[in-house]
Amino acid sequence: MKKFNVCIVGGGSTYTLGFLKSFVRMRKEFPLQKLVLFDTDKERQDPIGQFGDILFKEQFPELDFTYTTDIKEAYEGMDFVFMQMRTGGLPMRAKDEHIPFSMNLIGQETCGAGGMAYGLRSTVDMIKAVRDVRHYAPDAWILNYSNPAAIVAEALRREFPEDKRILNICDQPENVVRSCSRLLGCSWEELDPVYFGLNHFGWFTNIYDINTGEDLLPKIRELVKENGFLPQDAEQRDPSWLDTYGMVEEMMNDFPDYLPNTYNQYYLYPEYKVNHLDHEYTRADEVINGREKRVFEECKEVIATGTLGDKFDDISDAHAEMMIEVAVSIAYNKNDRHIMIVENNGAIANMQDDAMVEVACELGANGPRPLGVGNIPQFYLGLLVNQVSSEKLLVDVYYENSYQKALEAFTLNRLINDTKKAREVLDALIEANKGMWPELN
Ligand code: NAD
Ligand code: G6P
Ligand code: MN
Repeated sequence: MKKFNVCIVGGGSTYTLGFLKSFVRMRKEFPLQKLVLFDTDKERQDPIGQFGDILFKEQFPELDFTYTTDIKEAYEGMDFVFMQMRTGGLPMRAKDEHIPFSMNLIGQETCGAGGMAYGLRSTVDMIKAVRDVRHYAPDAWILNYSNPAAIVAEALRREFPEDKRILNICDQPENVVRSCSRLLGCSWEELDPVYFGLNHFGWFTNIYDINTGEDLLPKIRELVKENGFLPQDAEQRDPSWLDTYGMVEEMMNDFPDYLPNTYNQYYLYPEYKVNHLDHEYTRADEVINGREKRVFEECKEVIATGTLGDKFDDISDAHAEMMIEVAVSIAYNKNDRHIMIVENNGAIANMQDDAMVEVACELGANGPRPLGVGNIPQFYLGLLVNQVSSEKLLVDVYYENSYQKALEAFTLNRLINDTKKAREVLDALIEANKGMWPELN
C-alpha cells in the first residue's frame, strides 16, 4: 500500500501539535512515509519539531519526520502540502483587531478591515510559497486553509489559473454541522449538508439525515429556539467562542430560512457587535494568552521529561482530522463530501462564474466536484455580491498597487460602509503593514 509524503507549511502554528497527534491516530487511514514541518521562523518551529521527535519515537517510530526552514528539503517529493501560515504572526492579528476597534469598527481576524489587512499580507506570502512548492513538487496537492481563506483563494485562482491541485478549505462549516449533531444527539457524520456562500459568509439550506433522507433543518430550527446553539466541543472553548455560537439563535430568529455560518453575525449586526466586543482585549489577545501559551508550555514539558506521558490520548482534534480526511478522500478517490471553496462556474447559478464560493463538493482523485444549489434568493445574493466585490477589489490591489482600489474594497465592505471611515482605517493599516503589504500608489 502506498505511503504518503506530507509537508506542513507553518510548522510553528498553534495547530501543529493537533496535527502531529492526529497523524498518529489516523496512521491506518492515511499511512505516512515522511512528514516535514516547514516554517520561516526557526525558533518558533523548533520546540514543536522537538515535541514531534519525542511523540513519533514513542508512537510511530517508522515515520521519517523532520523540520526545516529550507524550501527544497521541505517540498521535494511531497504528495500533499498543508498550508497554515500566518503572515505577521499573532502580533499582527492583534493589530488587525485593535486598529479598527480604535475607530469604532469591528476588529476581527478574517472579516472587515482587519481581515482585509491580513488578506493583503497573506496574498504576498502565499503566492510566493505556492511558487516554491511548485518548483520542487509540481504535482503535490496543496491544501490551503491559511486565512483569510476567501481572499487567499481568489488570489491563488488568479495567480495559478491552470493549477487544479490547489484546494482551499475552512473548518467552520463542518464545525457548525458538528454543533447540529450535538443538538440532535447523533453523529455529525450522519448529516449531509447543503451549503452556499463565500468563505466565512454562508448558509445551510438543508441538513439531510444520510440514513433516511429527511431534512433535519426544521428540527434544528426548533432545537436552536429551545436550547440555543453551542460548539460541539463547548466544554473546551473560551467563553468568547460560546458567545459567537450563541448568536446563531438570533440570526435564525431574524432570518429563519436557513442555518447560518457563525461568521455571518459580523455582517448582519455590525453595530451590535462593535458595541458588545471587548475593544481592549480582543480574540488575538485571548489566543496569545491562551492557546499559544498552552501549546508552547506543552512542548516545554515534553522536551524536559523526554516523553509524552499522558499528553497523548484518544481525544480527537476536529480541525486536524478534517484536513487529514480531505487528503484521504483524494488519496483513495473516496468522493466523500466536504464543504470547500471552489470557483463558482454555476454552482450558485445566479452568481458570477469567477467568484470563489463555498459549497459542498464530492472530493476524489480528480479534485472537488461542486454540488450546485441553483439560484439563491435576492437577499442572500445581494449580501454575497457585495462581499465578493470587496474581496475581488482587494486582490486587484495586490496586482495593481492601487490605493484607489483599496479604498473601494474597504468602502464596499459592510463592516465599514463609509468612505471617510474606509480612508481612515486604510491609512492606519498601511502604516501598520509596512513591508508586509505591496506598496500602494
Ligand atoms: P500561528 O501564528 O501560531 O502560526 C502560524 C505559523 O506560520 C507561525 O509559526 C509562523 O512563523 C508561520 N509563518 C508565517 N509566515 C510564513 C511563511 N511565509 N511561510 C511559512 N511559515 C510562515 O497561527 P495559528 O493561530 O496557529 O494559525 C495558523 C493559520 O491557520 C492561520 O492562517 C489561521 O488563520 C489558519 N487557520 C485556518 C482555519 C480555517 O478554517 N481556514 C482554521 C484554523 C486556523
Ligand atoms: C475557525 C475558523 C478559522 C479561524 C479560527 C479562529 O476555526 O474557521 O478560519 O482562523 O476559527 O480561531 P481562534 O481560536 O484563533 O480565534
Ligand atoms: Mn475558517
